[in-house]
Amino acid sequence: MGIRNMIWSDWIELDDQYRNYQEIRARRIETQGHGVLGGGLAVIELVHELAEYLSRRYPTTFRVSRHPESNTEYNWGWEGLPPIKTITVVPLEETHELPLSLHEGDGVAEKAMIICALLIQDDLAVMVEGTDGRYYFQAGAICVPGFWRMRDKIGMPLDEIHISGDVPLYRSKLHASMERFFRRMPVEKPVARNNYFLQTIRPLEERKGREDAEELAWSESTNGLESEFQSGGRFSHKLKPTTETLRLRSERQTLRRLPISGAIVFTIRTYMTPIEELGRERGVPGRLASSMRSWPTEVGEYKGKERGEWYEAVLAYMDECHREQVDRGEAARPGQGDYPY
Ligand code: HEM
Repeated sequence: MGIRNMIWSDWIELDDQYRNYQEIRARRIETQGHGVLGGGLAVIELVHELAEYLSRRYPTTFRVSRHPESNTEYNWGWEGLPPIKTITVVPLEETHELPLSLHEGDGVAEKAMIICALLIQDDLAVMVEGTDGRYYFQAGAICVPGFWRMRDKIGMPLDEIHISGDVPLYRSKLHASMERFFRRMPVEKPVARNNYFLQTIRPLEERKGREDAEELAWSESTNGLESEFQSGGRFSHKLKPTTETLRLRSERQTLRRLPISGAIVFTIRTYMTPIEELGRERGVPGRLASSMRSWPTEVGEYKGKERGEWYEAVLAYMDECHREQVDRGEAARPGQGDYPY
């Protein structure tokens, strides 16, 4: 499954792209970003968990006010404190009032879901256990998925989400261990995993002035129009790739179980890195090339190795950067191994 333990302080990462991401995310929320089918209690719990976490982890970015006392069925506050009433995102000068319970009226869980999405750069999926013991995607704020659409997946159990996307090695390798992992996952043991894809974006002159120039929300130049997307056509690189237009699209995902509702929260944080930038990172070109060469056939198929001309272009560029690094004494020769350096 490629998962590793996660320390609590690493749950949510923020960086200098925060404002740019949140502009894109806010716009996407208005169009197709969020949905709640069930799991309303979990969503209310999630918005309080995020507000408690963020105000401690990034105290200059998030400021909170609290209710005078806890007067609801559940006390969402950490360390016995009364629950948070409002959270202010200081750099954006935005304040959100957190719902306390599902009794606050229609649409309260949706409201909580939107606040979650506006606070962080990650997309969110709330997985709730069904009466059949399987985990269902019941609520989410998926604003910048790039190559899948929330409306195609929401409501599905974990296995269907992956089977419908032809996720490589899912039936043969991942299915059983993932089901077992979800059922047994303890509250105190969050985990993280990473993946990567190669994406092509528009050339520089066509990117100028575009809000989402890096095609974070939807990878149109690689996968065509979002409205016409069918999952079989993933990573077809509709535009001819060049080293200037190729991006490494990498997701850092986390999973944790919420203590009160028992729902599992899946976070997906996407990073877009120009491959020319990767080429300059010490030791990275050699490792990326060797990782790409070791893709099993199914993985190559999923990532579109044979669709478009990008695969050979990336390998050739990474090999060239690696050779230059070796000549400068910055990277090990093949087989010597210099990681971690
Ligand atoms: C231990 C947990 C999980 C593992 C090991 C896992 C594994 C994978 C793998 C291997 C892929 C192919 C792309 C990649 O390499 O990442 C994938 C795709 C995907 N996963 Fe998961 N996953 C997990 C949890 C989840 C959860 C909780 C969701 C909830 C929404 C989810 C939604 C998806 C979606 C939407 C895709 C894209 C499918 C497509 O291409 O249509 N995954 N997952």
